[in-house]
Amino acid sequence: MEEMKKYIASVIYKALENNDIKIEEIEEKVETPKDKKNGDFAYPCFNLAKVLRKSPVMIGQELELKITADDKISKVENVNGFLNFYLNSDNITKKTLDNIVNLGENYGKSNEGNGVNIIVEYSSPNIAKPFHLGHFRNTVLGKALYDLYETLGYNVTGINHLGDWGRQFGIIIEGYKRFKDEYNFDENPLDALSDIYVRMNKICKEDEAQMDIARENFKKLEQGDEETTRLWKYFRDVSLKEYNRIYDILGSKFDSYNGEAFYNDKMDEVIQILDKKGVLKDSQGAKVVEVSDNMPPCIVLKSNGSTIYATRDLAAILYRARTYDFTKCIYITATEQILHFKQIFEVAKYLVDEKYQKGLKHVTYGMIRLKTGKMSTREGNVVYINDLIEEAIKKSKDIILAKNPELENIDEVAKKIGVGALIFNYLKSGKNKDIIFDLDDTLRFDGETGPYIQYTYCRTKSILEKVGFDIANLDINSINYSKLSTPQEVELVKQLQKYEDTIKKSAQEYEPSILARYLIEVATLFSRFYNECSVANEEDEKTKQARCVLVYATSVVIKNGLKILGIECPDKM
Ligand code: ARG
Repeated sequence: MEEMKKYIASVIYKALENNDIKIEEIEEKVETPKDKKNGDFAYPCFNLAKVLRKSPVMIGQELELKITADDKISKVENVNGFLNFYLNSDNITKKTLDNIVNLGENYGKSNEGNGVNIIVEYSSPNIAKPFHLGHFRNTVLGKALYDLYETLGYNVTGINHLGDWGRQFGIIIEGYKRFKDEYNFDENPLDALSDIYVRMNKICKEDEAQMDIARENFKKLEQGDEETTRLWKYFRDVSLKEYNRIYDILGSKFDSYNGEAFYNDKMDEVIQILDKKGVLKDSQGAKVVEVSDNMPPCIVLKSNGSTIYATRDLAAILYRARTYDFTKCIYITATEQILHFKQIFEVAKYLVDEKYQKGLKHVTYGMIRLKTGKMSTREGNVVYINDLIEEAIKKSKDIILAKNPELENIDEVAKKIGVGALIFNYLKSGKNKDIIFDLDDTLRFDGETGPYIQYTYCRTKSILEKVGFDIANLDINSINYSKLSTPQEVELVKQLQKYEDTIKKSAQEYEPSILARYLIEVATLFSRFYNECSVANEEDEKTKQARCVLVYATSVVIKNGLKILGIECPDKM
């Protein structure tokens, strides 16, 4: 696609024979028309009107005459100063399908990233609390971005910046000591711990003397006291054990679980650097760094001298620049933290080189609301992800049992469908869009759902199986691609060809939804193709073979694309 843009720019450039115009400027303006009637690419000639001192229509007419069809371009047409290019579809078809057949599961991978270091920090829940819908959205988004960048050849580090530090641990430790015998920590340890926190916090709020005890606990923790550290570690371990169950299901990848606690001994240096640079100001006893006018200053030390969330984030920036030498460090959180990240990204200029500071990027996501109160199983509007996942798997199983009771490995398939449906539902909407969540909609086998795309994959598999098509035995030189000539076939090929660009765009814009929506389109175009063109019953052997290759290529793109999103494809469902 990018390659084709370059080619078209070069053709226009040659035809112009004008040294005042740069080829790069032409390339920038080459577009892909929304309506295919206007060609595969178009160039708006008004961009040249000023330099050439001619009307766009005249420029278009002249270029139309000068540019001739070749093996890549089948037709050029001037329409009101827009130069529309139609590509030679035989050529695209051969290139695209040969490429997919040759690369298989590597189709879409590239070396564009050239091993450049990128950090994706995601999930990052606060320990001793249950994992809820927001964390789930964060986690699927992060895993998709991780894989998108990895597919493009970047060296990605996934970090789970656990919320495992702060005054609340003084409170939990105290509550745990007092109430632990009332709870069963084997069953729902995170529920127990968060309940303990709520109880103890109430006590502390009502009685300053109790709060002092909690403060004392945290101080001990900061100083590395053995008993408090042991308890803290226990909370962290049980929390991670719970979260890991979910991470395993979602295929999340973390190379580091260094959370806030990890920076306990790394904040002094930050304070020293800021102090040395003379940017640390007193403000009602607290130490702050001033940032742009429209924002409140960034507090780094509270009036009692203790560090805060932001201080740890600053230490993390310094540490990550040194340890990972990142070009980009992406943080994924809900929108509430926009101000926080703006502040610390600005203060970062005093701590790290500009190249690191410029690479800091905050990615946010919208809220999740429930359509019905059904999933609010325990309290308030909190949904427990484990319950949700189990429910999704159970419902998927019911659907399969009704449709295809003979299916082997029903449980395994139900898991892929249930989990895939949840993930896809979160990723198909733009990341900042609010989602109104309804489990039944999510699990539908038709419409814009994960199961619909998985189902399309299964269709490709069963078609190929019926025909006895085996990619291993395919002689790629024997394929006659000109047999793929119906509009449905041509459209499907063009869609498959856009896969590589789609991945790039999704990564660049931090939008896995671009890939998710692309896959919906693949599935839709595949259906259209399959309604129009027979495969198994096709009598012309060459047509049949070419169509099989198209079906196979579709299966590859769907499988590779879903894998990036964290969704597995069953072969049958
Ligand atoms: N633990 C935080 C929360 O749950 C999110 C952490 C985001 N990352 C960061 N580096 N501050 O709200």
